[in-house]
Formats: sequence, C-alpha cells, structure tokens
Amino acid sequence: ITTTLTALSLTVSAGAVSAACDDGEMVIKFSHVTNTDKHPKGIAASLLQERINTEMNGKACMEVFPNSTLYDDDQVLEAMLQGDVQMAAPSLSKFEQFTKQFRIFDLPFMFKNINAVDAFQSSDTGQAMKASMTRRGLLGLEFWHNGMKQMSANKPLNLPTDAAGLKFRVQPSDVIKAQMEAIGVSPQPMAFSEVYGALQTGVVDGQENTWSNIYGQKFFEVQDGITETNHGIIDYMVVVGTDWWDSLDEDMRTQLATILNEVSTERNAAVGKVDGDARQAILDAGTTIRELDAASRQAWVDAMMPVWGQFKDDVGQENIDAAQAINA
Ligand code: LMR
Repeated sequence: ITTTLTALSLTVSAGAVSAACDDGEMVIKFSHVTNTDKHPKGIAASLLQERINTEMNGKACMEVFPNSTLYDDDQVLEAMLQGDVQMAAPSLSKFEQFTKQFRIFDLPFMFKNINAVDAFQSSDTGQAMKASMTRRGLLGLEFWHNGMKQMSANKPLNLPTDAAGLKFRVQPSDVIKAQMEAIGVSPQPMAFSEVYGALQTGVVDGQENTWSNIYGQKFFEVQDGITETNHGIIDYMVVVGTDWWDSLDEDMRTQLATILNEVSTERNAAVGKVDGDARQAILDAGTTIRELDAASRQAWVDAMMPVWGQFKDDVGQENIDAAQAINA
C-alpha cells in the first residue's frame, strides 16, 4: 500500500475506498452498488478489503468501489467477463439472465427468514448453484446475506389492493415483475442508483427492498411509510470471472478463498443486527412502519403465491419442496 497523498486522492476521486495499490501487487477491483456504512454488503466488502490488503500486502490489493461509482448491476457482470472488474456481489435476482435456477430466491414467501435462506444455500443444491454459471464464465464463491424485503409507496399500504394501479421500481427479474403484476402493480425495472430520484420525482410510486437498502438509499424520505411485509429476500453471491480465477497461482487463490470464506461466515452471522439497526434508524427518523396483522399478511400471501406456479419448471418442484421443508 502506498501512502503518498497524490496516489490516495487520485484513487478516492475515482470512487474507491482503499488506498492505492503498489507496483507488483495484483489489483482486485470489487464493484458494488450499496453504501458502506450500516449495510451488510458494504461492511463485508470493506472487511474483505481490509483483510486482503493487510494479509496479502505485497502480493494483492483490493480496491472497493461502492455506491455504483464504477458499475451498475446491469453492467458489472459484463465488465467482469471483459476483465475490467474482478469481484462483485450482485443480488441473486441479477443472475437470472445467466441461469433460471436462481429464480427460487425471488419467489415471494419462499423463505420465512434469512436463516432458512442460509440453510438452503448450505445444502448440496445451494452449493451446486455457485458453479452453475461457469459455462458462461462466472463462478460464485460465497453467498452473502442481506435481509427480508419490505414494501413502500407514496400512500399507505396495508392490503395488496392498496398497491393496485401503482408503479413500482423492481430489479430486472421476471419473477419480481410477475409478483408485482399479481397485485396489480406496474413493474418498472431500474438500476438501484436511480431509485431515490425516481421515487422523489414520481416516476414511480413505490418500491420493495430490505431495511438496510431503504435506510442506506434514504427511500424512507420520499415514501409515505414502509409496510413490513417480509414477502421476499435479497441475498448476494460473491462472483468472479472463471478466466481470472483460474489464472491465479494456487497459493493466491487459496489465500483469497480462505479470507473470503472467513469474512462471509463472520458477516453473515451478524446480518440480523445490521438489518435490525437499519429498521430502528428508519423508525427513529420518524417514518411510519406498518406491521401486518395475521389477516392482512394472509392477503399478501394469497395474492402473490400464484406466481410460484408460473416459475415451477424453472426452479424445480424438488427445490421448492426442499425450501418449504426448511421453513417447517
Ligand atoms: C437492488 O437492486 O434493489 C438491490 O439488489 C441492491 C443491492 O445490491 O442490495
């Protein structure tokens, strides 16, 4: 790590959080879209950077580009295949253009909480998913957790019928589009970095996301309130290009994989607290959080569950059954 001021300010102006890398160090650019503070992915990426830059000093150097400063999620995987970025952790919803298996994670009410997601990912089926895109040049190394999705709009949402006729920003995922259509919402796919502006100007009326994303992007400032639907999940896969990964010396690859695995275990175990703290911070900012009683919650379940049928063949009934067995 060089500590000259010029090098440091150059890197900072390019949006990276790290100090610049030394000559001879292999540069690993990690691009992501969330904030760094009080965010599961932001914290994990910063910890990964810190550990690599300390423990692999002289050999490797990670530069993290958060907040979509380098790429949006719809560009980052292409950039990785071109060799312009080495690591990223897009939400699982962003992989459906490469494999339909990941659609299981977007199906509404499929997982009752993040522990259930963790158990599914740890199963043989979940672990095999990491290697499901190698034919397309991408390899998943670890899953990172975020949390359960909540709904918000520029008007109170208690029942799914309250959302009918509104426009909601969605991640580019056919499952999420179908889920929104099931409640009469018009889905508008859009990059994460554009959502705040779109909510503020009324280009869209609402959105769905996790507490840490709603907090980190300040969506609560431009919405009527947040409805605690817990209707789906956002989780991530840390991904690398197979060409780059295979080109590394075995020692380097092993050390990187070990550090990443340790960081993943540590941060995944802490995700409940980050999520809860973000929810509390939104509440402390004076935002209305609407909790659902059992009957209202059932109305959301009834409205959205038919979507499973549309994607059963893509995700496999046996995988749906496995996820449901974990919930039980
Ligand atoms: C989104 O696009 O809403 C999220 O996937 C962003 C993220 O990385 O959490």
